[in-house]
Amino acid sequence: MIVVRDLHKHFGGIRAVDGASIEIEEGSITGLIGPNGAGKTTLFNVIAGAYSPTSGSVFLDGEEISGLPPHELFSKGLLRTFQIAHEFSTLSVRENLMMVPGGQSGESLIDAWFRPTRVREEEKLVRKKADEVIEFLEISHVADELAGNLSGGQKKLLELGRTMMVDAKIVFLDEVGAGVNRTLLKTIGESIIRLNKERGYTFCLIEHDMEFITRLCNPVIVMAEGRVLAQGSAAEVRANEDVIEAYLGTGLKNKPAKAAVATTAAATTETADPAGTGTGAVS
Ligand SMILES: Nc1ncnc2c1ncn2[C@@H]1O[C@H](COP(=O)(O)OP(=O)(O)O)[C@@H](O)[C@H]1O
Ligand SMILES: [Mg+2]
Repeated sequence: MIVVRDLHKHFGGIRAVDGASIEIEEGSITGLIGPNGAGKTTLFNVIAGAYSPTSGSVFLDGEEISGLPPHELFSKGLLRTFQIAHEFSTLSVRENLMMVPGGQSGESLIDAWFRPTRVREEEKLVRKKADEVIEFLEISHVADELAGNLSGGQKKLLELGRTMMVDAKIVFLDEVGAGVNRTLLKTIGESIIRLNKERGYTFCLIEHDMEFITRLCNPVIVMAEGRVLAQGSAAEVRANEDVIEAYLGTGLKNKPAKAAVATTAAATTETADPAGTGTGAVS
C-alpha cells in the first residue's frame, strides 16, 4: 500500500532519514520502533506530506505521492496524528470531531455529506457521524467535555476519532502511548484493532511500549540513525542482535556471551517495564 524507497531527509548536516526503504502492507498494523532520534517522526512527516524528501520516493497504491501537501494526502485517505495531541481545547469532544470535515474536507466527504442540502441537515449528519465515533471509542461520558480538560490518553483517543470522521485508508500514529496510562492505552489498542478488523484501516504506528507493539503489530520495523535496521515479527526483532545493540549502545558486544544472553532475555520479558512508565526496556 505504502512503499518508501531510499528516502533521505536531511536538515543541514543532520541526516534525520538517511536512506530508509519500507513497505506497509494493506490491512496491516505495522509498528515502527527505534531509539530516540532514529528518524521515525521525520519519516512520518515526509510520508504524510509535512516535509518534502531530500531525495527518494513515497508511493501510495502505486502512485507517487512524494512531496504532496497534507490536505491532498488527506483526501486520498492518508492521515496522521501527532506525538503531541492537537486538539481544540476550548471546544467539546463532539465539536472537535465535527470540526474535521469542515476544516479539512476531502472530496469523498464533500460528495457524501455536502451535496447541496440545507446547512442544518449537513450539520445533523456530521453530528450523527461524530456520535457514532464517540460510541465506537466508548467516550460518551466525555462527549460534552472541553477537549482541553481531557487526560493525555483521552486526547489520543480523540485524535483516533478524528481519523474516523473521514474514511481513512491508512493512519499514521506517532507515539500513541506517550503519557497515557495503562488502562487507556489498552482501550486505544483495542480501538486500533477494531478499526483494522472492522473498517479495514491500515495502521503504521510509532510506539516505545514494546508490550503494546507486540500485541498489535506485525511486522515491526526498526529504525536507527535514519535507516531501517531490521524488520520482522515483534519476537524476531527483539531477538535481533543489531536491534539490541542499537538500543543498548555498543557496549553489549564487548560483554561476555552469558551477560549478553541475559540482557536479551530481560529485554524480551513482559516485565521489562517494572516501573510502569510505559517506555519499556528498550526506549
Ligand atoms: N525540523 C528539524 N530540524 C533539524 N533537525 C531535526 C528536525 N526534525 C528532526 N531533526 C533531527 O533529526 C533526527 C531524527 O529526529 P526524529 O525524526 O524526531 O527521531 P525520532 O522520532 O525517531 O525520535 C534527530 O537528530 C533530530 O534532532
Ligand atoms: Mg519521534
